[in-house]
Amino acid sequence: MFPLRSEVLLDGKAESCRFRHDENDSTLHLAVYRNERIVAVATICQESLPGSERHDEWRLRGVAVEARLRGYGLGRLLVKLCLDHAQNEGGRLAWCTARESARGFYETLGFASSAPPFQLPSRGDVLFHEMHYVLPVEAVSKTG
Ligand SMILES: CC(C)(COP(=O)(O)OP(=O)(O)OC[C@H]1O[C@@H](n2cnc3c(N)ncnc32)[C@H](O)[C@@H]1OP(=O)(O)O)[C@@H](O)C(=O)NCCC(=O)NCCS
Repeated sequence: MFPLRSEVLLDGKAESCRFRHDENDSTLHLAVYRNERIVAVATICQESLPGSERHDEWRLRGVAVEARLRGYGLGRLLVKLCLDHAQNEGGRLAWCTARESARGFYETLGFASSAPPFQLPSRGDVLFHEMHYVLPVEAVSKTG
């Protein structure tokens, strides 16, 4: 997982490829293997939005597909499974910090951004968008 994160998302920098909540029990890490090699990854962890103290907010992180396997639906599948996990854990909102080039991907999956884009000190060359996805609430059965 970490090598693909580094290669695709961090310009090969290995030192920043571990995220704060990676080791939490509730965090879900997903990987797609091809010939015993990881070719796509995604992680979702319980993490409040900046400035929020809610416990039902989940952050999607490290979504990366090897370049030659993009466009086959792996990204969509991994994000969908991450959202299912957050929902099953009682999550109400999923969010991510999407780089400009991936904004359309997240919009296709139903995420939206409402705030202006911003830059990170570590990545002054890239514009990022905080994107949100409201997780569906389970329908309550009215039997009996
Ligand atoms: C963004 C990324 C994860 C998408 O993965 P993928 O497996 O190629 O995406 P999918 O094949 O599941 O595409 C799902 C849908 O999103 C669309 N899509 C995919 N990448 C897109 C992009 N960069 N911009 C706009 N739309 C995109 C696809 O056309 C598809 O739409 P459709 O179902 O209507 O045809 C992959 O391109 C990647 O790893 N990029 C580099 C790393 C990155 O930017 N990660 C996001 C971190 S912010």
